[in-house]
Formats: sequence, C-alpha cells, structure tokens
Amino acid sequence: MSELYERLAAYGNSNVSPFHMPGHKRKKDRFSFGNPFAVDITEIDGFDDLHHPAGILREAMEEAAALYGAEKSYFLVNGSSCGILAAVSACVPRGGKLLVARNCHRSVYHGMVLGGLSPVYLFPEPVPGWGTSGAVRAETAEQALSEHPDVRAVLITSPTYEGICSDLKRICDAAHRRGLPVIVDAAHGAHFSFWEVCESAVSCGADLVVESLHKTLPSLTQTAILHKNSGLVDERRLEWYLQVYQTSSPSYVLMASMDSCISYMAGEEGKRDMEAYVSGLKGLRQRIGGLSRIGLLSGREAGGSSYDISKLVIRAEGQSGKALYDRLRLEYEIQPEMCTETYVVLMTSVADEPADFGKLYEALADMDRKAAGEGRAAGMGRPCGGESSDTGPEKSGGETSGEAPGFPGLPEPQVVLTPGQAMERRKESCPLEVCEGRVSGEFAYLYPPGIPVLAPGERITAKVLAVLKRYEENGLAVAGTENFAGGEILVIEEEE
Ligand SMILES: Cc1ncc(COP(=O)(O)O)c(C=O)c1O
Repeated sequence: MSELYERLAAYGNSNVSPFHMPGHKRKKDRFSFGNPFAVDITEIDGFDDLHHPAGILREAMEEAAALYGAEKSYFLVNGSSCGILAAVSACVPRGGKLLVARNCHRSVYHGMVLGGLSPVYLFPEPVPGWGTSGAVRAETAEQALSEHPDVRAVLITSPTYEGICSDLKRICDAAHRRGLPVIVDAAHGAHFSFWEVCESAVSCGADLVVESLHKTLPSLTQTAILHKNSGLVDERRLEWYLQVYQTSSPSYVLMASMDSCISYMAGEEGKRDMEAYVSGLKGLRQRIGGLSRIGLLSGREAGGSSYDISKLVIRAEGQSGKALYDRLRLEYEIQPEMCTETYVVLMTSVADEPADFGKLYEALADMDRKAAGEGRAAGMGRPCGGESSDTGPEKSGGETSGEAPGFPGLPEPQVVLTPGQAMERRKESCPLEVCEGRVSGEFAYLYPPGIPVLAPGERITAKVLAVLKRYEENGLAVAGTENFAGGEILVIEEEE
C-alpha cells in the first residue's frame, strides 16, 4: 500500500479523537457500507445520471427535498464549494453586483472571480472578547439593499464556522421585497433540519441553500447538498452551472453515502441517536462552562439570531489558540478542527459517543487544574507574545481603528479592482518589505476558515501586512498565497 494510505490507516487506528470533520467520525461500525471498491461505479445502465436524473437518483433527491422542506434538492459530489459556485453563477449575471458577507468562504470569492462580479460587502457584527465576527444584522443588510439597488442577489454565511446564525428570515424578507434571491452558505448547517436547536436556512425562506453533509452529518468527505426553494432562481441556469462545476463521473460511493446518511437521519435510529447526542452535548457544554480557566463561546456571547451548540469554540486563559490546539493534539490525543489566534474550534456530531465527550472534558479539566496550579492569570486566549486580536466593545464596528466592522483585528478592505479584474491582470512577486501600497494579485487567509484578510484587487496596507505577519509569528500559516512564508506576495504589475 502507498505511504498515504499507510498514514491514513495509522491515523484511523490511533487513539486520536476526531473533533473535526467529517461528521461520521470514522465510526465504521455504525456508518460504513462495506468495501468501497465493491460499489464504486459511475453512470452505467440502471443507475441513473446525476446530471439528468430520471430514476433512482431522482427519487433519492426528491426524498431529500421532501425531508428538508425544499422545492428541489441536488446531490453535490464536489462539496459545498461547487454548489456555491453554481448558486452564484445562476443568480448573478456576468459582471453583476453581489451583496455578500465579507466573512464568506473562499469558494464565494472564486464564484465572483469566475463571473467577473463586483462585490458589495456586508460586514458581520464582532463577537466582543473573542476576536471573531458573527452574524450579519438584518438592518445592515436592509440598509445595503437600499443603498445598492443594482445588486442581483444576497449571499450570507449562516451558520459561521463558529456556529453563529444571522437573522435569515428578516434578511430574506428584505431581499424578497426587492425581488432578489438570497443564497445561504450553510455548509456548516446540514444538521439543522434534524434538531430543534436552530432553524434551517430553507425554513427561514432562503432561495438557495448549500449544506455540506460531510461536515456535520455522518456522510463521506465531499458530500453536500444544494436546496432550491424559490421561483426567483432560474432552474435551467442553476442546473447548467451544476454540470459545469461538477465532475461528469460522479462517484456512486459518495452518492450512496448521502442517501444512506439522509435515510439514517430521517429514520427512527437517527432520531434516537440525535436526541442522545443533543442531551450529551448540552451536558458537556454545561460541564465545560463550569471550568474557571477555559472559556466556551456561548450563544449569548455569540449574538445572532441563534447559535449552533454543536461547535465547541474554546479558549484557555493565558494561551493562544495555536498553543491550545497543539496541547490538545500532542498531550491529550484530541484533534480539533482548527484554531485562530485566540481559540480552537472542535466539531461534534451525532457520531460522537459519551466516551468521546468524556475524554474531551477530562482533557480540558486537566488543563484547567494545571493552569490553576501555575496561577495563570493572563487574559483568555491572548496570542503569546503578540498583539491581542481581542478588541473590546469600545472598538466594535472598527470605526476608531480602521479595522473592518465585524472583523476584530482585520483591516477594512481597500478595493481597487474587483477580484475578477485582478485575476485577469499580469502579476509579479514582490518582497514583503516593499509591497505596501501595491494592489494584491492573490488571496491571503488562514485555512480553515478560508475567509480572506486580503483578496485579489485589494490594496496591501500596513494594517493588512501587520495582521498577516502576526499570524505567522503566532504559528498560523498564511494560505492562499504563492510564497508568503518565503517573504513574498503576488502584486498586480504596474502599468507604464
Ligand atoms: C463556511 C464554508 N463554506 C463553504 C465551505 C466549502 O465546503 P466544502 O468543503 O464542502 O466544499 C467551507 C469549508 O470549510 C466553509 O467553511
């Protein structure tokens, strides 16, 4: 077997507890359907055609739509990313304007590049004390809609990676009054239709909703679903773009995984397991909440219209997010999903069992005891040795600091060219020491979550550079660039 396979198998057989995606948590005894090679085909007689479904796939997708309460649902085999690309391309004509939350995933930016779109950014609210941003307020969206009557669609990420939901009902109402469709990147919300904790974007009235089954439900990596729920979206156009962005040889292993996952979630076993999971999760959150030097983001602090409790967003007193992440991995055999400067994100799912939650709690309780023994008294989650990204409430909105509203620690973008225009231009590498003032030719973000600090076509300001350098100093790799780690950034060539 190959080295890659050997390494995967070793990880699979290790004692590391996966608090990361995929949501099946490698619980093969509960969710597997045997040897994948035995069922690995693409379109052959009797198995329908994903791009022109008329048989077994059509039935499976119709069942999914009925369950999710959507007019029509589409299986996606290239992740939420391809659903987002198709949704953006279907809703906004080439060169058009999109009202888009700045905290969106890079796939949304890719969609804007492909369509040559002009973004009008909506800034989410900051989450005071946590160095992150959360919900987009309905008022912010309404005001932007009044100021930019020429936008062709609205795109919101809800829930965010951290589980924060925007008031989609009101945002949809405001957009629909103007005849505009709302696309919701609910990549992290595929489980919402199966519990009472938060309402799904479909039931809030969103026109197109993209959900990654693989992130929060027991389904294989890359599996996702797109729901259409509106007459405001041209179905033919949407289906054409789904063909463009998806492989012409869709994997039946992936599609069977989606179908099995949805049947399980809708069936008695799934309902029972979900109840047990939610009750265990609430208990775990309560116990973590009782620790004195470990902080758990609560729905109250997060703001927004509701909060996805499946996300455990955790910080530790006196430690950076990266230090906490490394300790969980190396000392306690717990693999989190991601970290930022201030916190780690641990993903839970219906596949987690009481023993997994017990192990996580014991690790956090042990850290808490040790921190108490060391008499740690520094502020929660401040980056070691770096400037804190934790803006207090007095900076909320960023007006006093030049930071983007809703992005504590992140600079407000100075857009010179649209992302699409920038990608068309000639570029050159520029040493970081002399790049200030130039226009970026590439993205720069932490991955995950893939939310750009800098997008192509935006001016590289001193603040942008300070944030990116601070990430590197805090052990967080800047992604999206060709060679940031080597001290260079791609910039647009200046015309003579
Ligand atoms: C908010 C958000 N949207 C979209 C995506 C893309 O999802 P996928 O990996 O299923 O393509 C991600 C991936 O992490 C994400 O975090």
